[in-house]
Amino acid sequence: MAGRIPQEFLDQLLSRVDLVELINARTPLRRAGHDFMACCPFHAEKTPSFSVSPRKQFYYCFGCGAHGNAIGFLMAYERLEFLDAVEDLARLAGLDMPKSRSNEGDSSRVLLEWLAQADRYFRQQLREHPTRQRAVDYLRQRGLTGQIAGVFGIGYAPPGWDALSQILRQAGATSEQIINAGLASCDERNRLRDRFRDRIIFPIRNQRGRIIAFGGRMLDAGVAPKYLNSPETPLFRKRLELYGLHEARTRTQRLQRLVVVEGYMDVVALAQHDIPYVVATLGTATSAEHIERLFRVVSDLVFCFDGDSAGRTAAWRALEVALPFLRDGRQMGFLFLPEGDDPDSLVRREGQIAFEQRLEQAMPLADYLFATLRARAHPDTLAGRARLAELARPLLEKLPEGHFRDLMTARLQQEAQLVTTRLRPPVPSRRPADRDHAQLTRTPLRKAVALLLHRPELAQQAALDNESALRNSREPGVRLLADLISTLRAHPELTAAALLERYRDTREGAILEQLAQWRLEGPEEAYRFEEEFADILDYLRRRADPMKQWLESLLQHGSPDALSPEEREALRNFGQSRKVE
Ligand code: UTP
Ligand code: MN
Repeated sequence: MAGRIPQEFLDQLLSRVDLVELINARTPLRRAGHDFMACCPFHAEKTPSFSVSPRKQFYYCFGCGAHGNAIGFLMAYERLEFLDAVEDLARLAGLDMPKSRSNEGDSSRVLLEWLAQADRYFRQQLREHPTRQRAVDYLRQRGLTGQIAGVFGIGYAPPGWDALSQILRQAGATSEQIINAGLASCDERNRLRDRFRDRIIFPIRNQRGRIIAFGGRMLDAGVAPKYLNSPETPLFRKRLELYGLHEARTRTQRLQRLVVVEGYMDVVALAQHDIPYVVATLGTATSAEHIERLFRVVSDLVFCFDGDSAGRTAAWRALEVALPFLRDGRQMGFLFLPEGDDPDSLVRREGQIAFEQRLEQAMPLADYLFATLRARAHPDTLAGRARLAELARPLLEKLPEGHFRDLMTARLQQEAQLVTTRLRPPVPSRRPADRDHAQLTRTPLRKAVALLLHRPELAQQAALDNESALRNSREPGVRLLADLISTLRAHPELTAAALLERYRDTREGAILEQLAQWRLEGPEEAYRFEEEFADILDYLRRRADPMKQWLESLLQHGSPDALSPEEREALRNFGQSRKVE
């Protein structure tokens, strides 16, 4: 995959972006000696073990082993594919993506193109189709302005069987692509049938603003289903996506909070009333992926549910799913609406200020959790208090290590009037970092590579003949070192991160990533990089001497009688040259 982007482009990209800046904008970093530190954004911890090296342009967590360069960071943090991360970085660095980016043959990109075309079609129909007035009236009756309809790209799918399919076919789409994009299905006579017919269309964008699916609302009461959504496609997975997240991010200067509601119309109506920081799940229950994604954007979530029993069930589910993500600094509240209302009807009746007041007064997660458990356990008796503790325990055990967990434990003690609380300890964070260090014993070869990754400029001092001797070595590791040296000679400006990028998703890459983390003995200032590196190269060169290797294998595996006349001659010469030495 990486092969499609030219190496020079990746080099240039990685030399332009600063990893420290990139990470600092998402997780504030503090300087610590040569490096920067923070609490790891990839696992819960109280004390920082996430370090970023400005020199290597590489990050590493000593707690969970997460590591990588700027591309890897964006992929992990924003959950992006390789190409998408590269594209985001390119935008940041003011570079144009190389042309091969929009390659045909990359199926998901083709589907995105057809979805974008469908989106243009739906919006155009809202402006031009002969029956458009019904749709316009409907939107108006629901209180939406043209401006807000524009922000969300609301469109209209006119009646008819296959108007969109035909347009896409003419533009070059195959039937299979149209079906895979979720825009049509095949009927029993193998004809394409548009999925969305005579419906108001809500385009669903992914986090990066690309249209990946649509939701369509019927216009006339009584048509079932009321809302029809795109099916799951290679681009659209409901449990991962949130309606309105892209719009909220682009329309709010500094997002502090996100409100999660249930419906498309709730998102749009709230935005219409100047509450643009709202997203909706797509007809699914709140998933762990939703929570994780939302907490990547803000640290304050408010879940807004109907006041009926379905709303309460949904809220409790969201709470259970969210517990493992509640690290210190994150908060979550619950707003229950009056029976019979949804956010759309409420904001239209009460207006922005009253609605935002309700948000301010949302019930904190801790209160909601204990209120619910109290109602179930009736802790006014000894047995009830024991019941309360039993109900709370498995929930609190889901919380990650941190002060919030401690405070919740203390609260349980108080609520249930316990003398002690026995929770199982938090799931300890994995420490693959230590394991990896243990696996890679410190051989001179590995040390040379580690030194080179710490100080790429060392490659310039390596004598040329060393390099060729190394290149001919039978040891793959030695040849890798030779490759690194010659790459760095050809591109002296490369950082360790750019060097590693060349080995993304390879076996060598996995080893190099570990070697990049090697802690050198003693302080870096006092370290004699040049001498150490020269000594090891010297040693490796002697070991890599092809004649010597051959001789050794000969001595191990065969006798001179088994040699051809030429080989015997070579051996004699070799012996001679040794004597001269
Ligand atoms: P609601 O029925 O609460 O919708 O469903 P709403 O947003 O209040 O709709 P309006 O106000 O009548 O227009 C909430 C969400 O559940 C999903 C949709 O995502 C909808 O926004 N849903 C609902 C469906 O997917 N299919 C349906 O038939 C109904
Ligand atoms: Mn509604």
